[in-house]
Amino acid sequence: MTDPTKDPRILRDPDAATPSACPVQPLPAGSGGRPGYLVTGYAEAREALGDARLSKDTAAFFAGEESRRRLHPAVAHTMLASDPPRHTRLRKLVTKAFTTGAVARLRPLITRVTDTLLDRWPTDEPFDLVAGLAKPLPVIVICELLGVPPADRPDVQRWSAELFAAGDPEVIDAASHAVAEYMTGLVAAKRRDPGGSLLDRLISARDGDDRLSEEELVSLAVLLLVAGHETTTNALGNAVLALLRHPAGLDRLQRNPDEIPAALDELLRFDSAVSTATFRFTTEAVTLGGIKIPVGAPVLVALGAANRDPARFPAPDRLDLNRDAAAHLAFGHGIHRCVGAPLANAEMEIALRAVLTRCPGIRLAVPADRLEWRRTRLVRGLASLPVLA
Ligand code: HEM
Repeated sequence: MTDPTKDPRILRDPDAATPSACPVQPLPAGSGGRPGYLVTGYAEAREALGDARLSKDTAAFFAGEESRRRLHPAVAHTMLASDPPRHTRLRKLVTKAFTTGAVARLRPLITRVTDTLLDRWPTDEPFDLVAGLAKPLPVIVICELLGVPPADRPDVQRWSAELFAAGDPEVIDAASHAVAEYMTGLVAAKRRDPGGSLLDRLISARDGDDRLSEEELVSLAVLLLVAGHETTTNALGNAVLALLRHPAGLDRLQRNPDEIPAALDELLRFDSAVSTATFRFTTEAVTLGGIKIPVGAPVLVALGAANRDPARFPAPDRLDLNRDAAAHLAFGHGIHRCVGAPLANAEMEIALRAVLTRCPGIRLAVPADRLEWRRTRLVRGLASLPVLA
């Protein structure tokens, strides 16, 4: 059987066709020997993401199995890898600290960082928008948010990239320990000398008598760092490229930058930065899209493919800024829907506005088919995006 996760429609090649006619299909057995299922239809993806019988508790799922992996527990047992009631409790506490108000207060910082990065943009030679803007912006913002001092940011950024790269397991395990130990030290420093960062708010966040334990705090800090970083980088690069390849849309947003917030949903739908959601596992037999999935099966939901399902989004391979794309699945769906979506939207809106208004003649510096993509099962994004202003 060929592996559908290697299918360009799942990896979301920009020119590949819409998802296959079969919205739920079997996957070949992975290294654990369990055959899984891949969900590419929009309705089926939404159903799977909202189904409590699909568990995210990886520790429970693999309990009793021998593993050579040595991931730090704070990285292995994040909120994203947990089910209710643990998930409900953690999510409630993080939501209290991570309010819309907190995101609104970050807007001046996001604007300042964006402007500083764009000031370095040469006017007469190609500029890599990924290295020069899409990569540094989210990491600077998340480090500011968590209160990571500037001198520590290169290390934090490297560990986060290693965790996300899905490369050598030993490198990933080592990065998990390095970043968790760093965050443990940062939490201790904040306890000694409190400030106004998100981490400080997480330390003092309470729900009645409930508050976060040391390990939960470290785990949440690492999750926010990793989840809020590569995703936004890829989403921003993909959105700029989509506009460069659709001059009418580019022209429209350059003339009317106030339409950028409304255009974000369609840009996120069109080229989703997260190709597949994290694995879920069936805790009982489930029928999805007419396919019977047995108990104990891994289920992979292809968000990028679901966002191109013609049954939900007619002519899905066309970027259509008039489309109501608010129901896209780029941020997931259900109880694990991205907690950082308001921040991601603010970063994308501010960065796109700055790029489009400051660079009226922006265009690709290389042919689109020569662009290099970073291909992992999880994320879809550009390795670089050379543009001319
Ligand atoms: C455009 C940028 C982003 C995209 C496309 C994105 C996408 C996603 C998706 C698809 C999920 C659900 C994964 C699943 O169900 O398996 C998720 C969850 C999550 N995201 Fe994001 N994300 C983005 C930015 C951010 C930012 C900026 C932060 C934080 C600063 C963040 C923090 C999180 C957290 C903590 C979760 C886990 C939520 C939970 O388990 O309840 N994300 N994100």
